[in-house]
Amino acid sequence: MEKGGAGFAAIVVAGSLCVVPLGQREVEGGESGISDDQALQDKSAIVAELEKRIVGRETAPAEEVFSNIQIMKGQPALRLLKIMELGFTTALGVACNHCHVVDEWEKDDKEAKHIARKMWNMQQRINSEVRAIRENSFINCTTCHRGVLRPATLLGANRTAETPAK
Ligand code: HEC
Ligand code: HEC
Repeated sequence: MEKGGAGFAAIVVAGSLCVVPLGQREVEGGESGISDDQALQDKSAIVAELEKRIVGRETAPAEEVFSNIQIMKGQPALRLLKIMELGFTTALGVACNHCHVVDEWEKDDKEAKHIARKMWNMQQRINSEVRAIRENSFINCTTCHRGVLRPATLLGANRTAETPAK
């Protein structure tokens, strides 16, 4: 569009995006990492199997049941599995193997597992601010990720001819 060239585009971008500084990469919600139903079925089967292994210890602190717990100390063991199944994988749109080698759960060999720990800590910090603004409100992985690995910084309906996809 020829409505004053770069100056116009800059105003549109600033007006519609607000939070994205000009020149920084913009991300439209990416593809989910789960490509078919198989990964989801595997996920349920894997969690069901792990639940069997912790029978009788469901409410014990995660660090007593599992061997490499750093961020989820004090969480009941069963809740840790639920966070993996209903929180992490669902929020990010991935299967367990995005962060783990399946059945080597305690290992820290995947970068995504390290990132997930840092994200968890970031989430705790954000939540202490959120609760100070409004009691009982909170954010979690889903708030940003919404089923994809790379949270969107630009929503489709707000895009204009002046806002490039990347
Ligand atoms: C986004 C990354 C991510 C995904 C996806 C994920 N996990 Fe995890 N998982 C972690 C992190 C991080 C920890 C370590 C938690 C801590 O340090 O307290 C962990 C810990 C575990 C543990 C405890 C291991 C031990 O012995 O210390 C189990 C079991 C586990 N995950 C199972 C699963 C299963 C089953 C799935 C799929 C349903 C899954 N995880 C998906 C990040 C992930
Ligand atoms: C405040 C927003 C926000 C929250 C909350 C958040 N994330 Fe993220 N996360 C991001 C951003 C931004 C990136 C970087 C995406 C990129 O590379 O463009 C990211 C990236 C990641 C990645 C790396 C993705 C990859 O390519 O493998 C993992 C893993 C991840 N987040 C896990 C989590 C988990 C688990 C939670 C909840 C404990 C969480 N995130 C909560 C914003 C967030």
